[in-house]
Amino acid sequence: MNTMFFTKILGGVAGSLLILLLVKWAADAYYFPGSGHGDGVEAAYAIAVEDDGVAEEVVEVPFAELLAAADVNAGQRKFGKCAACHTIEAGANGIGPTLFEVVGREIGGSDFGNYSGNLPSGTWTPEELNAFLINPKTYAPGTSMNFSGFAKDTDRANVIAYLSSL
Ligand code: HEC
Repeated sequence: MNTMFFTKILGGVAGSLLILLLVKWAADAYYFPGSGHGDGVEAAYAIAVEDDGVAEEVVEVPFAELLAAADVNAGQRKFGKCAACHTIEAGANGIGPTLFEVVGREIGGSDFGNYSGNLPSGTWTPEELNAFLINPKTYAPGTSMNFSGFAKDTDRANVIAYLSSL
């Protein structure tokens, strides 16, 4: 036994590893689409998967339905976010106009006296309030109402149901 003997063994092992790596690399390239060689090759057979459509169904409930099923008490709790600026007492304006009987009221129609002038004209129907409360700044650019909105449909429906109950 001499150095040469070990060198040969080492060389043998290293050589085998190298060949293994090359084979693996070639196999990867050949068998896995996207790795280069197999690009554009279609599967030899496709497995048909039954599509019952359940997973893709996006449930979109009309707002009127959400409103009909709305929870006034939950709306009252959510109103806490509005109460920083709004009261629900007739004539009692805060940073924002009173929201007493706001549903059905003319937009910008209270005696608030500090409207930005950027609210549209019309009436606060539940649908209009819904559109406003998703994102006040998108609905009425330049509005002085500094509130980011309720992204959740049910939150808006509940608050509007609460406002309707006043
Ligand atoms: C940071 C204060 C603030 C918060 C919070 C706030 N508002 Fe307002 N709101 C205002 C101001 C100010 C106006 C007047 C907007 C204008 O003139 O552009 C306003 C206007 C309104 C109007 C129109 C009233 C009218 O007479 O036309 C409605 C409706 C309203 N807010 C509902 C709400 C609701 C509901 C919430 C809670 C989800 C809320 N606001 C949260 C400040 C606020």
